[in-house]
Amino acid sequence: MEFYSEKQQIVAIIDVLKAKQLTLGLVPTMGALHEGHLQLVKKALNNNDKVVVSIFVNPTQFDNKEDLKKYPRTLKRDMDLLRTVSKDNIIVYAPTVDDIYEGKTVSQSFDFDGLEFEMEGKFREGHFNGVGTIVKRFFDIVKPDNAYFGEKDFQQLQIIKKLVEKFHIPVHVVGCEIHREASGLAMSSRNTRLKPAYKKAAPFIYKTLTAAKERFGTNSANTVLEWVENQFAKHDLLELEYFIVADAETLKPVKRKSNKKSYRAFIAVYADDIRLIDNIALN
Ligand code: PAJ
Repeated sequence: MEFYSEKQQIVAIIDVLKAKQLTLGLVPTMGALHEGHLQLVKKALNNNDKVVVSIFVNPTQFDNKEDLKKYPRTLKRDMDLLRTVSKDNIIVYAPTVDDIYEGKTVSQSFDFDGLEFEMEGKFREGHFNGVGTIVKRFFDIVKPDNAYFGEKDFQQLQIIKKLVEKFHIPVHVVGCEIHREASGLAMSSRNTRLKPAYKKAAPFIYKTLTAAKERFGTNSANTVLEWVENQFAKHDLLELEYFIVADAETLKPVKRKSNKKSYRAFIAVYADDIRLIDNIALN
């Protein structure tokens, strides 16, 4: 498996692949890979000749220094996992902060037509400017034909689609379903940091989401919201940060249901000091 940590090197390799007219997939990640990431990589391998997996803990998308510091960094293990998926067709690109940001570790400001003001944008200041900055940079460097993002971060996926539309970037953005543990808990690099009692409690999040979906069939968004807030108020270990029923396209909270629209429920929960997010399609 090829590995590069310098922009110049990867740019040269991409030029060679492009000259051979090979199709190129990109899977951007922050590492600490799990089966959810590997699903994206497998999908990318099925649809492209070569797949670049970027591994980079992007400092500009963290609003919390402690979270950035504690983010798991497991490059060797990540490489071993990727090798189990393909030895020949994956190219790992794991740059340093300096190589990518060239001494100016700041984000560009984006206008994502309001998508950036909802949910994660509200609770994590500057987060989507950081995500937009790094993903745009990876698109510039790797020039992929297809790029793969998980619905686990549904708002991020919608924002990347908006980024591509606004900057006319010639890449096809592919959304991939949420991969879950057997307990229903959405896989996340942060799950490894959960203490046993919290790990045991965390599947309550998805259980509540599926129950909320069921209730949404016959109740208003507000009724469902109150019910979910109540469930978490009664829970000893998990602290609800937000639960929102939103239009799946605009991500604006639903006021009155229409059967012409797609809705999704989004949730963020603290399990001790670890912030977990999840979402579910409601109709
Ligand atoms: P990271 O959290 O490492 O996730 C990388 C990709 O894997 C994202 O597209 C994310 O949605 C997807 N993913 C994570 N867990 C998943 C799961 N359980 N099921 C399906 N897909 C899952 O998201 C980021 O990194 C960063 O913001 C990044 C896009 C790399 C920019 O820095």
